[in-house]
Amino acid sequence: MIPSFRIDDKVAIITGSGSGIGRTLALSLAHAGAHIVVTELPNRLEAAEETAREIKKLGRQALVVPLDVTNLQSIEQMVETTQREFGKIDILVNNAGIIIRKKATEVSEQDWDRVLDINLKGVFFTSQTVAKVMIQQKSGKIINMSSINGVIGSPERASYTASKAGVVNLTRTLAAEWAEFGINVNAIGPTYLLTPLTTTLFENETFKKQYLDRQPIKRFGTPEDLIGTTIYLASPASDLVTGQTIMVDGGWTAV
Ligand SMILES: NC(=O)c1ccc[n+]([C@@H]2O[C@H](COP(=O)([O-])OP(=O)(O)OC[C@H]3O[C@@H](n4cnc5c(N)ncnc54)[C@H](O)[C@@H]3O)[C@@H](O)[C@H]2O)c1
Repeated sequence: MIPSFRIDDKVAIITGSGSGIGRTLALSLAHAGAHIVVTELPNRLEAAEETAREIKKLGRQALVVPLDVTNLQSIEQMVETTQREFGKIDILVNNAGIIIRKKATEVSEQDWDRVLDINLKGVFFTSQTVAKVMIQQKSGKIINMSSINGVIGSPERASYTASKAGVVNLTRTLAAEWAEFGINVNAIGPTYLLTPLTTTLFENETFKKQYLDRQPIKRFGTPEDLIGTTIYLASPASDLVTGQTIMVDGGWTAV
């Protein structure tokens, strides 16, 4: 029997879905049938509303909820609001993330804490809070956004590489712990994609040349390159897949 890649009437939370990859994935999951909880920082809710308007054009429900993943109370309120509105949570995409590029000798404690708080602690506590709902339901799909920088080192990205490597191994642990509750936990490891996070990099001709020299598939990635993997990991087609990080990197980490 051919497995289904549809996620009709599932409820999906995507963190940081007002821009970049998060917005693209929110729209894609809606396209595949899901209703979307569009979450964003309280000062970026207009961007979230824009994502929600696009989702509604696809005939799906979209609920905008403020969320700061570094604030446990904010996470709990977001989950309560989702439960009140939809009564279930089927899919969580832990997408919110930041990068601070600095030489390792120049990284301040504040830089380190900010990146780790959002990229790793935020992923853990959002997953923990949502998993309490999924455990009751005995089903759920959690998808964490790692990076090629989660499995290889990269100069001037000490805090970012540490956080994204943390996501890779946290994904394995949560997968093992929550498998008995029907929850799959996986991650995606993208190459550099053109988004607001990487605008300055893609303005640099040296970076662009090094990128194409380094990556076996000789083209720049875009958020659209993550759609297939995300829908797969959110759908019944991936029911036996858990604890994995699927690299969507043009072969960057293969060689
Ligand atoms: N763009 C790339 O090349 C690339 C490559 C690999 C991995 N990633 C990862 O993909 C994810 C999305 O990145 P992007 O490129 O779309 O960046 P982006 O800056 O466009 O989006 C990040 C989103 O996270 C939100 N956010 C930031 N801090 C938050 C917080 N404390 N609480 C809640 N939301 C918060 C932002 O408001 C924004 O909407 C990140 O985890 C990033 O590390 C990006």
